[in-house]
Amino acid sequence: MSVFYKIGTAALRTLPAETAHNTTIKALAAGLGPSPTLAAAPELAVHVGGLSLPNPVGLAAGFDKNAQVPDAMLRAGFGAAECGTVTPRPQAGNPKPRLFRLTEDAAVINRMGFNNGGLEIFAKRLEARKVKGKGGVVGANLGANKDSDDRINDYIIGLTRLWGTPDYFTINISSPNTPGLRALQGADEMDQLLSRIAQARQALTETGGHTPVFLKVAPDLDSAQIERIVEQALVYQMDALIVSNTTIARPDSLMSGHKGEAGGLSGAPLFEASTKILSEFHAASAGRIDLIGVGGISSGAQAYTKIRAGAKAVQLYSALVFKGPQLVTDIKRDLQVRLKADGFSSISEAVGTA
Ligand code: FNR
Repeated sequence: MSVFYKIGTAALRTLPAETAHNTTIKALAAGLGPSPTLAAAPELAVHVGGLSLPNPVGLAAGFDKNAQVPDAMLRAGFGAAECGTVTPRPQAGNPKPRLFRLTEDAAVINRMGFNNGGLEIFAKRLEARKVKGKGGVVGANLGANKDSDDRINDYIIGLTRLWGTPDYFTINISSPNTPGLRALQGADEMDQLLSRIAQARQALTETGGHTPVFLKVAPDLDSAQIERIVEQALVYQMDALIVSNTTIARPDSLMSGHKGEAGGLSGAPLFEASTKILSEFHAASAGRIDLIGVGGISSGAQAYTKIRAGAKAVQLYSALVFKGPQLVTDIKRDLQVRLKADGFSSISEAVGTA
């Protein structure tokens, strides 16, 4: 199985990045996904943001923008699959090429620009899997249309249309590829955004029950911003913070010819910076809000580092491009070994011990 997927991953890397991605989604949708090779491991089960996950390794947003393959990704061994970003109306995204593999750097630059089929088809797919009784934790990552007159309202439209269908929501205000979107991380804008979300949630919860709502932030934040975001997230009862999205920074270490492309950088060169701000969020929040660590994870050691820096769960995307879906099982196995070596009986005991 693993040899087969290694060959598959290598073959896909000979295609242009976006073609390879679309081919992968088609293969997964056709049922050609991998099956997990690891038995259920109770010590890997975690509670985060009101959710119970069988393991702490989640699929980050952007891989399955249109909710086509969450069950294939759960079958591959992820503890949760986050679909989206979805915007209310369908959107073509930026002109191609807009996705670049930085192979020498084990990194990706993307400026997709929220290409997606819109809320309606996304909702129908998630509803269909629910009707079929599919289990597992599936999230809906919400965004705003580029040409929207009221971007905050786009998040409310997403929550309202989907409420009761996904297991959690992520409010994505940190993609660098929709001009002005990250301004929603500013104090006043965030206050407006989160207060409107809190209001909408109250009404939705009365009729449709409780669903956790997470906030996904950029890695390009200073300490004052981090402290302020934590306090605002607490005031408006966000259930977790996802730290972080891609970065607009370009570390000097980059070697690939694509390093000058505009967009968000992810993968290996994001690991250090995203883990550093995760630690800062951990210090600022002091256990008052759950954290999910994302950015550059491509090994069990790195997943463990995020957990020890304060993450109750982690997510990854870019490393799948280079290592294939076998990576998920490898990371979980490695986490088991590390827990044992450090004398922890569960992931939760290791959280924040760095
Ligand atoms: C992303 N990411 C992303 N995030 C998000 O909230 N909404 C999105 O639509 C996308 N789209 C997207 C496309 C591509 C091609 C990539 C590589 C990434 C960001 C992703 O979820 C994650 O936060 C970062 O990529 C950092 O994690 P990795 O990739 O370094 O593990």
